Amino acid sequence: MMEATAYGLDGKTAIVTGAGSGIGRGICVEMAKVGADVVAVDMNTTGAQETAVMVREVGRKALVIEADVTKADAADVILKSALGTFEGVDILVNNVGGLGPKPKRVRALELDLEGWEFLMRLNLTSQFLCCKAFIQYAVDNGRKGSIVNIASLAAMVPYETSVVYAAAKAGVVSITQTLAWEYGQNGIRVNAIAPGHVKTPIPMSLYKGKEDLLEAQNRIIPLRRWGDPDEIGRLAVFLASDASSYVTGQTVVASGGMTYFRTSVV
Ligand SMILES: NC(=O)c1ccc[n+]([C@@H]2O[C@H](COP(=O)([O-])OP(=O)(O)OC[C@H]3O[C@@H](n4cnc5c(N)ncnc54)[C@H](O)[C@@H]3O)[C@@H](O)[C@H]2O)c1
Repeated sequence: MMEATAYGLDGKTAIVTGAGSGIGRGICVEMAKVGADVVAVDMNTTGAQETAVMVREVGRKALVIEADVTKADAADVILKSALGTFEGVDILVNNVGGLGPKPKRVRALELDLEGWEFLMRLNLTSQFLCCKAFIQYAVDNGRKGSIVNIASLAAMVPYETSVVYAAAKAGVVSITQTLAWEYGQNGIRVNAIAPGHVKTPIPMSLYKGKEDLLEAQNRIIPLRRWGDPDEIGRLAVFLASDASSYVTGQTVVASGGMTYFRTSVV
């Protein structure tokens, strides 16, 4: 039998939001492969159930929770349900975010208050509320914990039409730093991942039938390709595990080396 190493997540339980698709699914499966049981949270339970099957296929337990993490009480409900099944929770991955079900590519002057508030709540407020509930639980119970927030390269490198998304993701980078400062003394680490282009359904659909544009996009990526969700998953494993025990408050960019966005390609 192989000895457990700091790189694994044996005996740990991870809550992953937005677990029913894309990067969230990749994170769940990669965490399960190295020993974690998974609480798959999504407002789309069909997708989350499929992820749960994949987690069970690699021999770990999975619990699906239907929740909209933009709602004020969602984080408490998620933790309560998770603790009804698992003895404790060690890891929180705040992956919900993005541009919403009907992405609107608008510049600042066309963005109304409703549009601003929707994306702020989806990308930043929801992550803060989940962090707060998880940290409260960890502090109350004297438990250590590791949080991984999913930001975006847009936090550092905005693009045309990104005014609210980039600001919200920059907010994710910022709360990651502040929470790391405030609760490092409690043994709680908080880090973030800033992906570049990752092959998930919504961004890929924008390039459908536009292979020339995809090729142009790939030329500004040193690795010349988009990332796969499992590649973000393995970085999340590292940040959640004891392998990164002296790392907190950091945002790691996973973009194949891309440092700027082409604009107006789709
Ligand atoms: N895909 C990329 O290229 C890329 C790049 C940079 C950052 N990101 C970030 O990665 C994260 C995941 O993106 P993705 O492309 O995998 O998205 P995705 O659309 O494939 O998956 C998101 C999942 O979250 C769920 N979800 C959405 N709103 C929710 C809510 N309010 N409550 C609960 N569940 C909700 C959806 O049902 C879906 O299953 C986002 O934060 C996104 O901003 C993605």
